[in-house]
Amino acid sequence: MRTYSRIIGTGSYLPEKRLTNAELAAELAQQGVETSDDWIVERTGIRARHFAAENQGSSDMATEAARQALTAAGITPDDLDLIIVATSTPDMVFPSVATMVQHKLGTAGCPAFDVQAVCSGFIYALTVADAMIQSGSAKRALVIGAEVFSRILDFTDRTTCVLFGDGAGAVVLEASETTGILATDLHADGKYKDILCVPGHVNRGAILGDPVLKMDGPAVFKLAVGVLEETARACLLKANLTAADIDWLIPHQANIRIMQSTVKKLKMSADKLVVTVDQHGNTSAASIPLALDASVRSGKIKRGDTLMLEGVGGGFTWGAVLLNY
Ligand code: ACO
Repeated sequence: MRTYSRIIGTGSYLPEKRLTNAELAAELAQQGVETSDDWIVERTGIRARHFAAENQGSSDMATEAARQALTAAGITPDDLDLIIVATSTPDMVFPSVATMVQHKLGTAGCPAFDVQAVCSGFIYALTVADAMIQSGSAKRALVIGAEVFSRILDFTDRTTCVLFGDGAGAVVLEASETTGILATDLHADGKYKDILCVPGHVNRGAILGDPVLKMDGPAVFKLAVGVLEETARACLLKANLTAADIDWLIPHQANIRIMQSTVKKLKMSADKLVVTVDQHGNTSAASIPLALDASVRSGKIKRGDTLMLEGVGGGFTWGAVLLNY
């Protein structure tokens, strides 16, 4: 009998501060940076995003999302035997956000670590957790995506600062004989490092290099639409399914045009696409679990639905997880 990793609870957290495009444009105008609601909506589909408070870190948001997911799963933190956090914006260089979340949840002992694959981070973390559950080394895993990208944005660069938001999403996975994760597919290619990166780093007490996000938007766009189709098809092939079997496609929420192009390439109906980028912006590793939790809580995604989750991000990294919810 095959052991599956089954999602038994989801949760999410968005910081209180919400800025519409018009509000962000007004703030940026004060620094002489020109943008508009029309430009942002037309090029990206984003209408609003949330920004963390000064005293809020990834671990705070991750812990809130985790609490919701644990409540939905009907288990306590002590029932967990694995915690993985996907983030590129940890509270500190070390220790990991995962160990901080573990402590904030009031538990200890189980392995806890971060995965850094930028916007594909949640897909990577889910795949690692699934492998550990299938191998028998974990039975109940908490998998979180949490980011404060507002800390690494250059608010004088209008080509990037309008795209991102902060937040966290979480799932609890349990080893089960009932179907759950059906197939996973992961890839990376380091030659694309310069088209999306934060080059700054800590060196002997100083920050060397620019510690803000740099992106070649058109190059990222082109790469993303290609690999999102490829990884979805590879994942379907592994599960012996076709795109017609997918009830909901939840791609990384970066840009509505990338997402629509993926749906089209997979020859899926546009109404199977889950969209939260309009309300959240691009929250990097948090975007997929945030979209998943919103759709579960709204009743859109139901038990038994087949979901294709897929991500692409800095590195470059990309991948997909196909599952029965
Ligand atoms: N407001 C107003 N004008 C702007 C803004 C802005 N915020 N940003 C750029 N412009 C201007 C540019 O200066 C340029 O003006 P010019 O023609 O006078 O020089 C014009 O708009 C067009 O700029 P482009 O960069 O060619 O715009 P494009 O249509 O490529 O859209 C975008 C830019 C939205 C970044 C697009 O390239 C894109 O979506 N790329 C994917 C990037 C992405 O989603 N990254 C997320 C992180 S990666 C990930 O998560 C996978």
